[in-house]
Amino acid sequence: MFDLIPLIKAIGYLGIFIIVFAESGLFIGFFLPGDSLIFTAGFLASQGFLNIWDLIFLIFIAAVIGDNFGYAFGKKVGPMIFKREDSFLFHKDNLNKAKMFYEKYGGKAIILARFMPGIRTFAPILAGVGKMQYSKFLSFNIIGGALWGIGLPLLGYYLGNVIPNIDRYIVFIVLLIIFISVSPMIWHVVKDKATRDRILNTLLNALHTKATKYAGKLVVFNWKMNPETLESAIDMARKSDHKNIVVAPPFVFIEEIGKIIKTAKLGAQDLFYKNTNGGSFTGEISASELVNLGVKYAIIGHSERRAMGESDEIISKKIKTALDNGLIPILCVGESKKESGSMNNELSVSSKEFVRDQLEKDLFLIRNSSFSIHNSLIVAYEPIWAIGTGNNCSPEVALEMIKFIKSLSGSLAPALAKSEVGVPTAERVGIVGCRLLVLYGGSVNSKNISDFLKYKEIDGVLVGGASLDPKLFF
Ligand code: PGA
Repeated sequence: MFDLIPLIKAIGYLGIFIIVFAESGLFIGFFLPGDSLIFTAGFLASQGFLNIWDLIFLIFIAAVIGDNFGYAFGKKVGPMIFKREDSFLFHKDNLNKAKMFYEKYGGKAIILARFMPGIRTFAPILAGVGKMQYSKFLSFNIIGGALWGIGLPLLGYYLGNVIPNIDRYIVFIVLLIIFISVSPMIWHVVKDKATRDRILNTLLNALHTKATKYAGKLVVFNWKMNPETLESAIDMARKSDHKNIVVAPPFVFIEEIGKIIKTAKLGAQDLFYKNTNGGSFTGEISASELVNLGVKYAIIGHSERRAMGESDEIISKKIKTALDNGLIPILCVGESKKESGSMNNELSVSSKEFVRDQLEKDLFLIRNSSFSIHNSLIVAYEPIWAIGTGNNCSPEVALEMIKFIKSLSGSLAPALAKSEVGVPTAERVGIVGCRLLVLYGGSVNSKNISDFLKYKEIDGVLVGGASLDPKLFF
């Protein structure tokens, strides 16, 4: 890095052009020197090695074309990227976050990214993936390209002219530039607890291989009305605190458990059906109260609540309220022994009809909704005869029902149709992209869990009784 002077002399204008182009918009260019390179080139121009006007023209053009190329690339490969399975380095969520980031900060993000090593390369690509409006992108690309591609070489040129023997300090100046460019990122990490935690968790997870045991799946721990004391709840939460786990404690423990878990996500076992902040509703808990406590998921329509009189109409309102508040609903559906015709190893037509009817009623209020890119809806297939009995549904029957539920999604709500298997997420992002995941629940334990999770169509499981002894699962 400190041999930039001979490097620039060797590569000349063409080399500078190629490097700036590559680091602006090619995936592979993210490690190339940026700020330091163009600053030093400006300095060399002050010493007569390069012409400053040719130099800034060339850097500006390379920077703008590079970003444009990155944008076009992102727009083209976006759908393919979205089709990829999540992996250690790749998460669809990150792309969605990038899109949200752009929606929030717009062009400012493109300009700021110019000055941030690494981000500089990915920013235009993600703007393309997120389909940022091109005219908006182009104008900010040009402003950012000018500030960076003209500003920094001119600074080097100016300092080279006014400070005698600046070549003696060039290393320090370059270091200072690198420090200034990365400082916004460092500041973000220091200031933002969520970012700090994410970095820490990534490191911890990398050390703790078991943490990724349920990679790509969702395991929901429904504690029901357990345990008796906060102390035991904290102990259970600590043992459940792994990736891909949702812990749903009783309401009374939610706040404390939220402070304990760092990797797992927080779920609620129910919520009030009206979308209202506060009000005269004795004994109820609103969606916004849950959100304020860090709850991300809400179990809705559990058969134990239906048995206490909760109607499909109320459940439908709860689903809508959850979605409207940014909570991910986990809608429980499932037939009793009667509909299943006692044929536990063969899915009966009446079971399917029963589940279809429940889904139609429970999703009634959202059937014409459109959703933001962050919405997900989870359905848990929980045959009542399998809940809490130790008599789980056979994984093959669960699989068949789950495939059936997924096949219904289009007729239940068009927004869900967009999320059917095989439809690239990119096509649903920003339109009506509601992700549908379907889990199985009913006497799942640490021994039989993998029999369900081995099927790619089964997106996860909902565990009741067995979740009270979480250590068996890890
Ligand atoms: P179970 O409960 O695992 O104890 O059968 C599942 C559920 O109620 O969601």
